[in-house]
Amino acid sequence: MNDKELVAIHAAQQVKDGMCVGLGTGSTANYFIEALAKRYHEQGLQVTVVASSVVSTIKAQQLGLPLVAIEHLKQLDLYVDGADEVAPDLTLLKGRGADLVREKLLVQASEQFWVLVDSSKFVSRIGERFAIPIEVMPFAWQLVKHKLEAIGATGGLRQTASGDGLVVTSHGSLILDMSFDSQLDSKTLNELLNNTAGIVEHGIFYGLTSAVFCSVNGQVQEQWTSR
Ligand code: A5P
Repeated sequence: MNDKELVAIHAAQQVKDGMCVGLGTGSTANYFIEALAKRYHEQGLQVTVVASSVVSTIKAQQLGLPLVAIEHLKQLDLYVDGADEVAPDLTLLKGRGADLVREKLLVQASEQFWVLVDSSKFVSRIGERFAIPIEVMPFAWQLVKHKLEAIGATGGLRQTASGDGLVVTSHGSLILDMSFDSQLDSKTLNELLNNTAGIVEHGIFYGLTSAVFCSVNGQVQEQWTSR
C-alpha cells in the first residue's frame, strides 16, 4: 500500500454516520473515495457525498456512493482532498487538476476540511514548486496577466498536454499559471488575487485547512489547526 492510499484509508475511517462529505479530485482523493465506498457497502456507513469535479462524480457513481448535486446543498460536514503544496501555516496550493472553483466552494461550505498528503507536498512557501493556477474569464486573461506582470509575476496560459491548445475548465474559463516574487507572502497574494476583477478563482487556499493528514514511513501523522 502506498502513502497516499494509507492516508486516505485513515481519513475514511474517521468519517461518521450521517455526514455529508465533499469528495476532492486527484489520485489521493480517488483512494479516499474508494475507502469511503468500502465502508459504505461493507459497514453500512450512512453518508451522502458531493463531488468537486466530473472525474470524482463518475468515480463516486461507479462505486455506488449516494451522490447529492451541489445545487441542493446549503452546507457540508466535511470536505476531503489532496493538495499540490502545503506551507508551514497549512496554507495550500491546489488546482493543478484545474477543478479549483468547485473545490474551494465546497471547502468554504464545509464544517471541516481534511487535507491528505504524503511528505513530498510540504514546502517552505506557497509557490515554491509550482506556479499559482489562476482561473480567469476568457475575455479577461490578457488584462489580468498584464496586471499581475506589473507586480513582477511571470507565466502564461496553461497549454494542453499535447501543446497544441489551451486548457479550458469545466466552466469554460482559461487558466493562467503565474509565478510571483518569493517575498510576497500567501496572505498578501491571496488578498491581491481575491481583489482582481476577471479572476474567477485561484489556487491559494488560505486559512481554510482544518487538518493535514500525512503518511510518513507507514504511519499517519495528523496536524490540526483552527480555521
Ligand atoms: C486538484 O485540482 C488538485 O488540487 C489536487 O488536489 C492536487 O493536484 C493533488 O493531487 P494528487 O492527490 O493526485 O497528488
